[in-house]
Amino acid sequence: MTVTAPDSMPRGSIALIGGGPGDVDLLTLRAVERLRAADVVLYDDLAGDEILSFVRPDAELIAVGKRAGRPSPRQDEVSRLMIDHALLGKRVVRVKSGDPSIFARTDEEISAARRAGVPIEIVPGITTATAAAAYLCTSLTKRLVARRVQMVTGHDVDGRLPTDLDLAALADPGATTCVFMGKATFAELAEKLIARGLSGETPTVVVESLGSPSTQVMAGSLTEIATRLAAAKPVGPCLILYGAALAGTELRTPSGAGE
Ligand SMILES: C[S@@+](CC[C@H](N)C(=O)[O-])C[C@H]1O[C@@H](n2cnc3c(N)ncnc32)[C@H](O)[C@@H]1O
Repeated sequence: MTVTAPDSMPRGSIALIGGGPGDVDLLTLRAVERLRAADVVLYDDLAGDEILSFVRPDAELIAVGKRAGRPSPRQDEVSRLMIDHALLGKRVVRVKSGDPSIFARTDEEISAARRAGVPIEIVPGITTATAAAAYLCTSLTKRLVARRVQMVTGHDVDGRLPTDLDLAALADPGATTCVFMGKATFAELAEKLIARGLSGETPTVVVESLGSPSTQVMAGSLTEIATRLAAAKPVGPCLILYGAALAGTELRTPSGAGE
């Protein structure tokens, strides 16, 4: 792999890079360049360890994970850390899981950097939603079946199912829906979707810990998965996908791990 010299990233700047789903070979070349150039790297606990292998040994590594339910730095502290280091002339890289533009509080970090007059760039990554589709060897859109893809959070600031979800959109049988941060609230969401007219038979898949050796897939109907997920209480991060486009997905997982 050819990478450019560290000077590809100016001193005193911040790069928010998408770490993708965790597989190191799904990083972009630009993300690798920025990691190699970095003097300081702030990383989420969902960013795979292998990704950090690109960082120079003399660079400072700072863990700023925000996994739900665990103590972690506040968002303003994370922004402050990035900015303080950049103002000291460091090249600061912030690694985020998946893509920085999807449920990653990137907007807050951009605003903080702009307020401080620190140059910031975004390096896109592969979001878990499309990485999950690839892992399952399926497509999120399907001609005449799924004309729309929607990404939604199942988790409000207090960890509950958001009360302002657009349930009509989420119950659209012609959409494929990707639910982020929804493992704890999915039973409640499924109940609301069914009440809105979505069939309990809608194909549903949970992908846990994608991009790690412990990736697990659970597949079944909306009703089944809601019950099984509530009982299984998976520990790893989970992406939940549902919609008619996912029919038969369980037969197409690379490892045959789906049920
Ligand atoms: C804060 S959001 C970050 C999303 C990320 N920016 C993206 O584009 O995928 C965290 C949520 O993303 C999903 N997620 C992130 N990494 C995952 C992984 N390796 N396996 C399954 N789901 C994952 C889970 O729903 C998790 O609760």
